[in-house]
Amino acid sequence: MTLLLLTLYFIFQSFIPIVFGNVHTNPCRAYCGNITIDYPFALQSGCGHPGFRELLFCMNDILMFHISSGSYWVLDIDYAYQALTLHDPHLSNCESIFLGGKGNGFMVEQWRAPYLNPVPDNVFMLIGCSAQSPLFQGFPSQHLPCHNVSGMGCEEYYNCPAWNIVGPKSLGLSGPPECCSTSYEAIKSINLSKLECEGYASAYNLAPLRLEGPHEWSYGIRVKYSLQGDDASCRACEASGGSCGYDIDEVKPVCLCNGWNSTSNCDSVRSSSGRETSAAFTLPGIWVSFITWVITILS
Ligand SMILES: *[C@@H]1O[C@H](CO)[C@@H](O)[C@H](O)[C@H]1NC(C)=O
Ligand SMILES: *[C@@H]1O[C@H](CO)[C@@H](O)[C@H](O)[C@H]1NC(C)=O
Ligand SMILES: *[C@@H]1O[C@H](CO)[C@@H](O)[C@H](O)[C@H]1NC(C)=O
Ligand SMILES: *[C@@H]1O[C@H](CO)[C@@H](O)[C@H](O)[C@H]1NC(C)=O
Repeated sequence: MTLLLLTLYFIFQSFIPIVFGNVHTNPCRAYCGNITIDYPFALQSGCGHPGFRELLFCMNDILMFHISSGSYWVLDIDYAYQALTLHDPHLSNCESIFLGGKGNGFMVEQWRAPYLNPVPDNVFMLIGCSAQSPLFQGFPSQHLPCHNVSGMGCEEYYNCPAWNIVGPKSLGLSGPPECCSTSYEAIKSINLSKLECEGYASAYNLAPLRLEGPHEWSYGIRVKYSLQGDDASCRACEASGGSCGYDIDEVKPVCLCNGWNSTSNCDSVRSSSGRETSAAFTLPGIWVSFITWVITILS
C-alpha cells in the first residue's frame, strides 16, 4: 500500500514540471550557434544575473565575450563546472606564436572581478617580455613570478613546433626568459602592453591525468564564473515559473513573471499598495491537496 502511494506521489510530482513547466517558455534562455545561454548569462539586457550583464553577444552564430581587455570567442559554457572556455584570435598555441602585442590578455572591470576569474590551473605563458617589464622588477635574478602551473610551463612549451619558427630561444643567464609562465592569481591582470610583452599563450588541462606534453594541452582561456553567495532566490523564482533577471535601472535582481516583475517569486501577488504577499493557493498546493485526497480514498 505504502509503495503504491509512493509510486503515485512520484508520478504526480514528475507531472508537475511537465504540465506547468511548458506553459511558460523561459524568455531569457537563448541559443547562439550550438551554445545554450542560460542563467546566470543572457543575451538580453534585464535577463540573467547582473554580474554578467553586457558580457555576451551573439554575432552570426558566434558567441562573443566582451570585457575591458577585449573580445573573445566563447567555445563552451560548462554550467556543471561553472566555467567558460574562451579563445582570443591572437592567442599563441603549439603550432603558432603571435607576436606584435595584439593579444587581449585577460582583464575584467573591477566591478566584475568577483564574478569572473581564470581557473587556478590555467597557465598564462607570456612571450617576448622586455627586461624592463614589471614582471621582472623586484625579482632581478630569480624571475620569481615565472613558475609552472599544474605541470604546464614554458620549459615544456618550448618543445612545441611553433618555437622552431620563432627561432632560437635565448638561454643566456643575463637576459629575461623568452617565455614566462604564470597563473592569473600571481599577477592578477594580464595586460600585454603594461607587462611589455609581445604575445602570450594560455593553456589548461581538463583531463584527470598529467598530459604527455604541450601538444596535448588545451589552448584557450578557461574562466570560472561565480555567483557570489547562494542562489536560492533565483531557484525560488524559477520554481514558481519565473525567469531570473535584474532591474536595469537599479541593477537589482528581479523575478520576471508573466506580465509583471516580482522582487521575490511569481507565487507572490501584488496588493493595491504595491507590496507583495504570498498567495494562499499556489499550483503545487493544488497537487498536494489532490495527493492527500488520493491517499484518503485509498486508505
Ligand atoms: C520587468 O523587468 C525587465 C528587466 O528589467 C524589463 O525589461 C521589463 O519591462 C519589466 N516588466 C514590467 C512589466 O515591468
Ligand atoms: C559546437 O560545434 C562545434 C563545431 O560544429 C564543435 O566543435 C563544438 O564542440 C560544439 N560545441 C558544443 C558546446 O557543443
Ligand atoms: C617546470 O617543469 C619542468 C619540467 O617538469 C622543469 O624542468 C622546470 O624546472 C620547471 N620549472 C619551474 C619554474 O618550476
Ligand atoms: C593596459 O595597460 C596600458 C598601459 O599601462 C593601459 O593604457 C591600458 O588601459 C591597460 N588596459 C586595460 C584594459 O586596462
